[in-house]
Amino acid sequence: MSGFPITYATRIRTLPPYLFAAIDDMKQKAIARGVDIINLGIGDPDLPTPPSIIERLKQAAANPKHHQYPSYDGMLSFRTAVADWYKRRFHIEADPKSEVITLIGSKEGIGHIPMAFIDPGDVVLVPSPGYPVYPVAASFAGGLAYEMPLTKQNGFLPDLNAIPVDIAKKAKLMFLNSPNNPTSVIADTAFFKRAIDFAKAHHIIICHDAAYSEIFYDGKRPPSFLEAEGAKDVGIEFHSLSKTFNMTGWRLGFAVGRAEVIAGLGKVKSNLDSGVFQAIQEAGITALESDESLTDGLLTIYQERRDVLVAGLKNIGLQFETPSAAFYVWIEVPKGYTSASFTAHLLEKAGIVTTPGNGFGSPGEGYIRMTITTGKDRLGEAVDRIKKIGW
Ligand SMILES: Cc1ncc(COP(=O)(O)O)c(C=O)c1O
Repeated sequence: MSGFPITYATRIRTLPPYLFAAIDDMKQKAIARGVDIINLGIGDPDLPTPPSIIERLKQAAANPKHHQYPSYDGMLSFRTAVADWYKRRFHIEADPKSEVITLIGSKEGIGHIPMAFIDPGDVVLVPSPGYPVYPVAASFAGGLAYEMPLTKQNGFLPDLNAIPVDIAKKAKLMFLNSPNNPTSVIADTAFFKRAIDFAKAHHIIICHDAAYSEIFYDGKRPPSFLEAEGAKDVGIEFHSLSKTFNMTGWRLGFAVGRAEVIAGLGKVKSNLDSGVFQAIQEAGITALESDESLTDGLLTIYQERRDVLVAGLKNIGLQFETPSAAFYVWIEVPKGYTSASFTAHLLEKAGIVTTPGNGFGSPGEGYIRMTITTGKDRLGEAVDRIKKIGW
C-alpha cells in the first residue's frame, strides 16, 4: 500500500451502518443464493410518478433559464405553490417569501437543521424508534440525541412528562414525526398542543416531519403540526413530494413554519448546496396544484394492500395495531424471538425482507417493520409463506 493511513473522523467512525444499507446487503446475499425475495423492507413507492408531472419536467428541462444555478431558497413560484397547497389542504397561511423553503428532499433539510441551532453539548430530542437521520444529524452538529421512547403503553407517542428536567433545560430542538415511521401512528392536534406548550416552557424548536401526511386510510386525513395553536411560534414542518406523488428519485421537499427557523436552515443550505434543479421545482408545482384525483387512486391501491397484509397477518396470529396511515405495519415479534432473529427467520426460511425494529432505536427491540410498497399479490404470497414456515 502506498500513501499514508486514512483515518475517518470520529463522527462517521462511530456511526452504525446506515440501516437500509445493511438490509440491502442481507437481501443481495439471499438473491445470490437464488432466493425469490419479497421485499417488505423499504418504504420506497413502487408506482411511477404521474404522467402530468413528468410532462412538465420535460418541458421545463428544455428551458435554458433553468440550466443555471437555482436560487438558494427555491423558486418563489414553487414556494407560492407550497403556500397555496398548505392553505387548501390545512387552512394555514404561510408567507412564501419568509416561511417556506425548498429542500433537496426532506431528508436534506432534516439532516441540515441541527447545524443551524445546535452547539456542542446541546440536546436534540428524538422519537425512538424513529427515522435514523434525526439522531445522526444531531450528532453531526455536535449535539446529543436524547431518545423519547415510543412504546405500546404510551400509544407510541413521546411521553413529554418523562423527559428529565435537566435534559429539557439542555434541549434546543425536538423532532416529531406523524404519521410515524416506523409505527404508522398519527398524532392528534391535542398531542401537538402539549408538545408546543412543552417547547414554549423550555425554549425548544420543534421540527415536525410530515413526510407521510398524504398517505392515509379510511378517509381520515392526518392533521398538520401547524394546525395546532401556537405551532408557528415554536417550529417548522418538513414535507416531501416523495411519498405523496411517487417522486422519491426526484429529490424534492420543503419546510414551512417560523421565519427565523426557516432562515437558519437557509443559511446552512446556502453555504453547502445550491438548491434544486428548477425544472424539478416546476414539475413540483404541477404536482402541488393538481386536484386530489392525482393521488386518490394511489390511496385506494395502498389501502387494498394494507387490507390484504393486515388481514393475512392477523389471521396467522401476529400481533400489531392496524395502521391508519403511512406504509408501515409495526409488528410484535413472537415469543422467543428478537427483532434480529425474527427478521433473519423470515429472510432465511421464507425469502421475505423486513426491517428489524431495533434498527430504528433500542425501544424498537421486539418489533419488525413491514412495508406495503409491493403489489397486493406479493403481499398475499408473503402471508402464505409465513403461514407455511410458522415460528
Ligand atoms: C419519516 C421520514 N422522513 C423523511 C424521509 C425522507 O424523505 P425524502 O427525503 O424523500 O423527502 C423519509 C424517507 O423514507 C422518512 O421515512
